[in-house]
Amino acid sequence: MAKVKITETVLRDAHQSLLATRMPLSDMMPALDQIDKIGFHSVECWGGATFDACIRFLDEDPWERLRILKDHMPNTKLQMLFRGQNMLGYRPYADDVLKYCIQKIGANGMDIMRIFDALNDLRNLETTINAIKLEKGMEAQVAISYTTGDTYTTQYYVDYAKRCEEIGADSICLKDMAALLTPYRTYELVKAIKENVKIPLQLHTHYTSGLASMCCLKAVEAGVDAIDTALSPLALGTSHAPTESMVAALQGTEYDTGLDLKALAAIRPHFMELRKKYIESGLIDQKMLAADPKALLAQVPGGMLSNLLSQLKQMGKEDQLDAVMEEVPRVRKDAGMPPLVTPSSQIVGSQAVMNVLYGERYKKVTNEFKALVKGEYGRTPIAIDPELRKKIIGDEAPIECRPADLIAPELETLKAECAQWCEQEEDVLTYAQFPTVAPKFFEQRNAKKHGVDLEHADKESQVHPV
Ligand code: CO
Repeated sequence: MAKVKITETVLRDAHQSLLATRMPLSDMMPALDQIDKIGFHSVECWGGATFDACIRFLDEDPWERLRILKDHMPNTKLQMLFRGQNMLGYRPYADDVLKYCIQKIGANGMDIMRIFDALNDLRNLETTINAIKLEKGMEAQVAISYTTGDTYTTQYYVDYAKRCEEIGADSICLKDMAALLTPYRTYELVKAIKENVKIPLQLHTHYTSGLASMCCLKAVEAGVDAIDTALSPLALGTSHAPTESMVAALQGTEYDTGLDLKALAAIRPHFMELRKKYIESGLIDQKMLAADPKALLAQVPGGMLSNLLSQLKQMGKEDQLDAVMEEVPRVRKDAGMPPLVTPSSQIVGSQAVMNVLYGERYKKVTNEFKALVKGEYGRTPIAIDPELRKKIIGDEAPIECRPADLIAPELETLKAECAQWCEQEEDVLTYAQFPTVAPKFFEQRNAKKHGVDLEHADKESQVHPV
């Protein structure tokens, strides 16, 4: 029996789930050498949200962060989360930009790319998988976004897993971003998938409803090859099962992870200090730390819930939250039952808000919802009702092909648009994915290099208006 492998998430999903991805590189640095010595299967450390938070809030170049992480963890595989054709952004990109992006991700030190498509439409992952295969030693792991509903039978997941294997995935991840998995459902799915595919299977689930450790254990018993966990100070709540606890649970059994509990314990104090700091500064809300089985009833990912609440607050309509929550499943059904994961969660959520606030369903439709219904994001898991589609997109023809086939090459245009700020080849990708935030970030970064702190200069001018 092969040992169960552990992917440590403390540098990505753990802080994304608990403190909105605000852990700066400086907080990671003191622990990197120790983490590198543990012998983790991989360390997840990068993704769309880390990229976004780096340039929007932390004033850090995400590419530079990746290079530094690689330098300090030379013995550990680095892992990231990637949105397939949507890359690290919120819209599908042309193939030329996508290929360039993957080439740069490989060149900067990434080892495993976990990729997913919000609609579980594999056509949106083909270019990504093929491009990853061109990068020496890089692994393409395809994540199946787990969700519930009539469409999502065990057979659905088995079929999807088989197709992932057929199109060249090196491994598969059962990705339960919304913490909907229960222990026995996990067992059933893992067993069924393992019986039907040869490539390794990994489990990613969240602690939100209090079940993650049990799901991990049942997955292990059913033959899963790897599980995602987080070092204990940043585990539980909306994060993952604690690494040390899972290692202890499996120690001395046929599933032993082979990891050293003493070495893991030595890293704990550093992250406990960080936990204390984040709680005191309010970055970690105590509410995030309690198990909340309501998630199982709402079927709405935790991150989506807090986004909806903040959208409604901005409009002074937070009293409408319950109505919006009831509208979400209806909109999701109308939109062809997509799993709720970036960007489908934002698209369905915003449309549900519109439907409630306008007092009439689809009286006002967001551009993104229209695009989703039209097929611009790919094929939805179940077909959209033609009448509803006509109401949303009028006489426009729905898209049946792979959506990226309709997007003209755009790399050269993007390069020209951002040439004035670029200091490294990767900058065009930062710009492509975050066109409104990136220019401000570049200007701040460039000013810093020349010894001027723009943020500080701004404050100065507010104090002493000229
Ligand atoms: Co996650």
